[in-house]
Amino acid sequence: MIHQIGTVVSLIVDGQEVTVPGGTSVMQAAAGLDIKVPKLCATDSLDAFGSCRVCLVEIEGRKGYPASCTTEVEEGMVVHTQSERLDGLRRNVVELYVSDHPLDCINCSANGDCELQDTAEALGVESSRYGMDGWNHKDAEKDTSNPYFTFDPSQCIVCYRCVRACDDIQGTFALSVEGRGFASRIIAGQSDSFMESDCVSCGACVDQCPTEALIENTIIEHGQPERSVVTTCAYCGVGCSLVAELKGDQVLRMTPDKQGQANEGHACIKGRFAFGYATHQDRITRPMIRENIDDPWREVSWDEVFRYTADRLRSIQQEHGRDSIGGITSSRCTNEETFLVQKMIRAAFGNNNVDTCARVCHSPTGYGLKTTLGESAGTQAFNSVAYADVVMVMGANPSDAHPVFASRLKHRLRQGAKLIVVDPRKIDLVNAPHIRADHHLAVRPGGNVAFLNAMAHVVVTEGLEAGDFIAQRCEDEAYRHWREFISNEQNSPEATERTTGIPASQLRAAARLFATAPNAAIYYGLGVSEHSQGSTAVMGIANLAMVTGNLGREGVGVNPLRGQNNVQGSCDMGSFPHELPGYRHVSDAAVRSLFENEWNVQLHPEPGLRIPNMFDAAISGHFKGLYVQGEDLAQSDPNTQHVEHALKSLECLVVQDLFLNETARFAHVFLPGSSFLEKNGTFTNAERRISMVRKAIEPLAGLEDWEVTMALSNALGYPMNYSHPSEIMDEIARLTPTFTGVSYEKLERLGSIQWPCNEDAPEGTPTMHVGEFVRGKGYFAITGFVPTEERTTRRFPLLLTTGRILSQYNVGAQTRRTANSEFYSEDVLEIHPFDAEERGISQDDWCGVSSRAGNTVLRAVISERMQPGVVYTTFHFPSSGANVVTTDNSDWATNCPEYKVTAVQVSQVSEPSQWQKEYSAFVRRQEELLDKARARVQNNA
Ligand code: SF4
Ligand code: SF4
Ligand code: SF4
Ligand code: FES
Repeated sequence: MIHQIGTVVSLIVDGQEVTVPGGTSVMQAAAGLDIKVPKLCATDSLDAFGSCRVCLVEIEGRKGYPASCTTEVEEGMVVHTQSERLDGLRRNVVELYVSDHPLDCINCSANGDCELQDTAEALGVESSRYGMDGWNHKDAEKDTSNPYFTFDPSQCIVCYRCVRACDDIQGTFALSVEGRGFASRIIAGQSDSFMESDCVSCGACVDQCPTEALIENTIIEHGQPERSVVTTCAYCGVGCSLVAELKGDQVLRMTPDKQGQANEGHACIKGRFAFGYATHQDRITRPMIRENIDDPWREVSWDEVFRYTADRLRSIQQEHGRDSIGGITSSRCTNEETFLVQKMIRAAFGNNNVDTCARVCHSPTGYGLKTTLGESAGTQAFNSVAYADVVMVMGANPSDAHPVFASRLKHRLRQGAKLIVVDPRKIDLVNAPHIRADHHLAVRPGGNVAFLNAMAHVVVTEGLEAGDFIAQRCEDEAYRHWREFISNEQNSPEATERTTGIPASQLRAAARLFATAPNAAIYYGLGVSEHSQGSTAVMGIANLAMVTGNLGREGVGVNPLRGQNNVQGSCDMGSFPHELPGYRHVSDAAVRSLFENEWNVQLHPEPGLRIPNMFDAAISGHFKGLYVQGEDLAQSDPNTQHVEHALKSLECLVVQDLFLNETARFAHVFLPGSSFLEKNGTFTNAERRISMVRKAIEPLAGLEDWEVTMALSNALGYPMNYSHPSEIMDEIARLTPTFTGVSYEKLERLGSIQWPCNEDAPEGTPTMHVGEFVRGKGYFAITGFVPTEERTTRRFPLLLTTGRILSQYNVGAQTRRTANSEFYSEDVLEIHPFDAEERGISQDDWCGVSSRAGNTVLRAVISERMQPGVVYTTFHFPSSGANVVTTDNSDWATNCPEYKVTAVQVSQVSEPSQWQKEYSAFVRRQEELLDKARARVQNNA
């Protein structure tokens, strides 16, 4: 039945009148009157399916007993949900289920959380008149292949909820039903185990299962949780809202929050299952100090570590000057923690030597979007993609790096939206179940700006510009200037073909598709920003969106997919050396005086050092002390040998982290950090959404990270006095125009808030630049293509590019300490069969990878996902040393490293590289020192 949008229907359910929108099911209409119709196969999250027949109702004038979940309301309908006849029919159905189901609820792990049990109880079914000994599935073998959940077919009622969850919510299509009637059973893949199938362990099927058939192993082991805390995932920039379910102080499971506005009840393997690192035995929970990095660590009290650290940093400043120390904030920490670190550096250190790990990922996004649109952030909410007709995904691999957004995107693509993928590799989206990219433009690493210019060239020269939009919303002179530049033949697809590697006809077709769509959206990632022209490419993306009129409404926009959970937040909170919170320049006296009045201190007007400048200054002897919160510079920054040289040159390196990470090998002070489960605060995700992080367990080391920074600042002589992170947020709101209306009270009330949130937008801003850009008129920046200095030569003939894998996260510090390593246990080198054959390399061979910066050794995976001439690896494992080979090249505007283009040679080898051997020896030595420190503590105890 087709309903006109906006029609409403009135009907009577159990004698009560109710009016609902057309298209509502009878079950939902009854629910609106608080009438619960028994159900097993229906859920709020999935389209109705109608397989269990428990939800039968009577409808006057209609024959039989229709299923209320699949029957749509009609005007004047009279429905009865309760009658003896219905009870009998429902009992009959449930008895049939029960006859094929172990009736041992007391000993079942799902006891108390089983919809079959609840329904049987509600209908008074205690046994089955069909007997329990007929043909059944009770001896069916369990599938325990997945490290996180178990499939027990004997508990399965074949309701299809898992299959529908995998198809509709996750978009993986790993499950199906084999056989018919009573013989039907759920299978993964082609009757494989879950681990052998395409399953990506998102857990959506487990969430949907109404019985114990699919259940988390932690629940089987420990029983049902007793309490829960709603918090925000600490992995990627999607920022899923999760429910931590606990028994005592043990987190038993994390389930996706149905109310979560970023994720709407979905999660991925990392957020859903990989939380065990928080209580891993490697956690360091006592402060430690040492004079030299070759000394054993000495465990000390919090008081002593603060005194010691403050003394060392102050004496460095006395000897080498105020600017000889600095600090680095983390995009994994909360907004409040990040705000405090930059405040301590500016107010207590007395300089602006603060930078963030966002420097090495999305700093070009900040520069490029601020220049063109006026705000350093993405323009849309994630749910905006539901209105996109064409989606261009560039330099991003959402299925691996932003999985919950990928599921949302795939859903839209299955509805018919068109897809353009711009990536050197054939990423999953190019050819996923029921999805095929309309264009995969396999751009050569380093060719992004030429590609974006060619796209805009086609738009302009073929008369596809959004003339009215440009005339009303963009700076006229800048546009005319840019139009002249972009129309130049040198920017045509034909002229740039050799640089981009994309056939001109294919690029032209993609540009026409993008420009003529009613709504076209761009989603991009580090494959855009981590280049020597990263900022130029971001501006090129903004230009393309403006010239086609794709900004300022739903379904369009420029959407940076942020890698870590709080990249947006760490930038917002003033982590860059030239900007105070809210992206305001330190040289602006009016802005400085606002902070000076609030902080009661005079602030330095000159920008401080960026991370690469800190390294260079350390090596040259001018920079001596560094405080690093939650960032593993030694593993994540490019050109490892240069980074290690810089870290070794410091007189005092303070590392605050959960684990003795790679950077801690060079540290003199270790401050134990707290995981996201152990603290209160907020994260801001890629859609500018500020969400609450809530403490589920007490900090293992006794202090939350913000308390550690506060105590260190006090020891340094700059007083801080907060009793709760909400007070820090109040200070942020007082000082930052885009946060004026943000408070914990409002966050609790609204669930989350997308900034800007102020008098103009008291409940936040899902879509930016509506009506006009933040900077007023949009600015078309000239984006001349300048080739990277990193060229292939006969010595280094291949281009290496890097990325992430679904089960591992960033430097792997967290995910490597979970069962996620069963899915991916080492970084490998993906290489095209042609390049492999030329070098005599076979699958799984050890390959030496050498660049101008260094050498490492990785195992080969021969893959047609690669294009000839381009190889690929991830950087999740320290021992693989992926960043030993990446170079010092960086973005011209922001110094974001050029991780995505390294000229390399690859050859078959038989043993690890020299760096890897030295690394292994170093790690062994550090482990011995730590063991000695622990033994001493035990002896003293
Ligand atoms: S865990 Fe996710 S991907 Fe795997 S079968 Fe279940 S729904 Fe599908
Ligand atoms: S495994 Fe669970 S969700 Fe899937 S069909 Fe069986 S009972 Fe239903
Ligand atoms: S998609 Fe990102 S935020 Fe969501 S659960 Fe996965 S890792 Fe966490
Ligand atoms: S709930 Fe309606 S048929 Fe299963």
